[in-house]
Amino acid sequence: MTPTGAPSARLAIVPGSFDPLTNGHVDIILRSARLFERVIVAVLVNAEKKPLFTSDERVAIIREVFKEYPNIQVDAFGGLLVEYARQCRASAIVRGLRAVSDFEYEFQMALMNRHLEPTIETMFMMPAEQYTYLSSRLIREVFQLGGEVRGLVPPAVERWMRAKQGLGVGG
Ligand code: PNS
Repeated sequence: MTPTGAPSARLAIVPGSFDPLTNGHVDIILRSARLFERVIVAVLVNAEKKPLFTSDERVAIIREVFKEYPNIQVDAFGGLLVEYARQCRASAIVRGLRAVSDFEYEFQMALMNRHLEPTIETMFMMPAEQYTYLSSRLIREVFQLGGEVRGLVPPAVERWMRAKQGLGVGG
């Protein structure tokens, strides 16, 4: 237990758009869940103008993927990430770093978040190297152009993507 109001050193937030969740995200979330007692995967509401999945759908998909992991919760958030993390009493924000190209954006966000809330630390983790080229944007593009995404996203995500395609959305 921590004093009232103090962040829990055992709780981390893994925030993102997750449109859709990729195997790279899964890798980072599982690494976080091994390091922290509890992890909240926080889905940003309305990140994209034309998302493939609504934030409710993304939350449902990610819950399905991690249903066997009692220490991984999934939630949606809007507004400032640090405000959400503060409300959850999280001590850390975890982000994946795939390549040097991610660094500048992540560095800016981490320092801005620290400026806004100095008690919450941002941690970076590298995914397994076979996932370093994966991004949600590329997955969406490949899928919409008829390419194979098996092995790049969890089977549940692929199923949801095919269901969208069946509805004439996203492919
Ligand atoms: O998966 P993404 O799109 O790279 O995730 C970006 C995310 C959700 C982490 C970032 O956009 C975010 O934290 N948005 C919430 C708004 C906010 O706090 N902005 C200031 C961050 S410096």
